[in-house]
Amino acid sequence: MGQEWSRRFSLNHPVLDEQHKELFRLANCVEAMDARSVNKESLSLVIKKMFHYMREHFKEEEEYMHNIDYPLIQKHKKLHQDIIEAMTRILQETKGVEELQAKIKMLSHKWLVEHILESDLQIERWRLSNTVIANEEYLRL
Ligand SMILES: [Fe+2]
Repeated sequence: MGQEWSRRFSLNHPVLDEQHKELFRLANCVEAMDARSVNKESLSLVIKKMFHYMREHFKEEEEYMHNIDYPLIQKHKKLHQDIIEAMTRILQETKGVEELQAKIKMLSHKWLVEHILESDLQIERWRLSNTVIANEEYLRL
């Protein structure tokens, strides 16, 4: 089994956290499929769901970064775009079902889960440090 979502990955944002949980679940779902007996219909169903969900989630996350004035928003948006492009390319270019599963498995872990664990958590670290600074400034008044 792959990586499970845990409280320490929280962005303290209920909607984004729920979406991250679902993305972890979908990534694990692809991983759990047996490569030798993988069924084309069920695989494409999970992939379609993941792709659709990812786009919705990125939109939501980008809106959140905008709302909190996250300084690295453009860089982060580019990472989202790269993931979408990589996934689109895989879907267009891969013919065999086993190959498709292997590639999506790699992408969902390497790009998606690692992205959440690294870049998304950076947003929360920035927000927390910024809140502390804002509070300190307020207390000095
Ligand atoms: Fe993100």
